[in-house]
Amino acid sequence: MRISSVPHAREWAQRRLPRAVFDVVEGGAEREVTERRNREAFDAVTWQQPVGVQAESIDTSIELLGQRLSAPMLTAPCGLAGAVHPDAEPGVFSAAAALGLGAVLSTTATRSLETVASAGAHPHAWFQCYFLGGRSGAEQLLERAGAAGYQTLVLTLDTPMPGIRYRDAGHGLTLPMNYRLGAMARLAPQVLRRPGWLARVARRPSTLSMGNGLHGVPGGGLDRLFDEVPTWADLAWIRERWSGPIVVKGLTRVADAQRALAEGADGIIISNHGGRQLDGQPATLRVLPQIVDEVAGRVPVLVDGGIRSGADVARALAFGASAVLIGRPYLYGLAIAGEAGARRVLDLLVSELTRTMQLLGTPDIEALRKVPVQFDVTSRFGIERQDDAQVTLGGAR
Ligand SMILES: Cc1cc2nc3c(=O)[nH]c(=O)nc-3n(C[C@H](O)[C@H](O)[C@H](O)COP(=O)(O)O)c2cc1C
Repeated sequence: MRISSVPHAREWAQRRLPRAVFDVVEGGAEREVTERRNREAFDAVTWQQPVGVQAESIDTSIELLGQRLSAPMLTAPCGLAGAVHPDAEPGVFSAAAALGLGAVLSTTATRSLETVASAGAHPHAWFQCYFLGGRSGAEQLLERAGAAGYQTLVLTLDTPMPGIRYRDAGHGLTLPMNYRLGAMARLAPQVLRRPGWLARVARRPSTLSMGNGLHGVPGGGLDRLFDEVPTWADLAWIRERWSGPIVVKGLTRVADAQRALAEGADGIIISNHGGRQLDGQPATLRVLPQIVDEVAGRVPVLVDGGIRSGADVARALAFGASAVLIGRPYLYGLAIAGEAGARRVLDLLVSELTRTMQLLGTPDIEALRKVPVQFDVTSRFGIERQDDAQVTLGGAR
């Protein structure tokens, strides 16, 4: 497999997908400030490399909520994976399982949670719950997810309604996604420029549908995705219906981390939804250290947003994350070559993480989490903007 890096996979995926589909994956909310911030924050990280040390072997594995992962990574819950390739979520789960990584299935997946569970037989399968069809719908989803063998529940709290994504609006797509014939007809010119995608994806009618629609409800209740949305008040309600760990996703504030602990969450995911919800949120990496301090090891603190290499994974861990979720990168891989492409991207991230650990001389994740790391003090924005700063200084002299 010739994918050499995540940026390479991104470019390749862009060439394979119709513009509107690529934009669904790539886009952030509004002016995409938060989406950019997430990525730029990683550029602003400066290692203090300990030299003259060599780790004899590298162990990237971790223990997370009672499960052993081969590396501190899970695939993030991303709806609509079938829109990029018919291998869809089962392909992603199989790829993650083959590498010993965790995987989180979205409520808005294109395949049912039962299909995904049986396809991947994944030992570390988590389910992300939206209140599709209100609380009664959520009750059915929780029951189904438990019966299908998902071990951990992720409750996403940053989506009381969908963010405005200008790219999608420009293509005439709205949420809940209207990948219907009418919308597709409007997109015909760009779709026809991608005959490979058309052959793979659009010929299969179930490809663009939602897999977790409610049984016995017309249309699966998908038009009711935002009728009732989960709030803090629902944690106790969910606890009565879910016996495994509950992890809250979508926090960027210390106060919300405190609330999560007070409500008995078993873990938190610092996330701004990859910059797809409220634009103007801080970069997740920037808020990670203070939340890690506040939580003080009481529950695992995971983070996602803007991770585009194994070195980025290492940066997040050095700032105190217990593990990370990977979003868009595996969708790029999936778009290129289905399950094999997703697996290649995830495998690359693991080997890049291993290389970074070798460069730092850290034999295991515990050691990596102790390496001194800081944000570049000369620039709040990272390397590209340093040049701008120099130009300004030069002009002022
Ligand atoms: C196409 C797409 C669909 C997503 N769908 C969901 C979802 O259904 N539920 C959810 O909690 N997060 C969803 N997310 C957010 C991801 O779980 C994750 O927070 C984000 O992608 C991480 O940022 P990254 O893509 O920069 O790695 C989605 C992200 C993308 C790109």
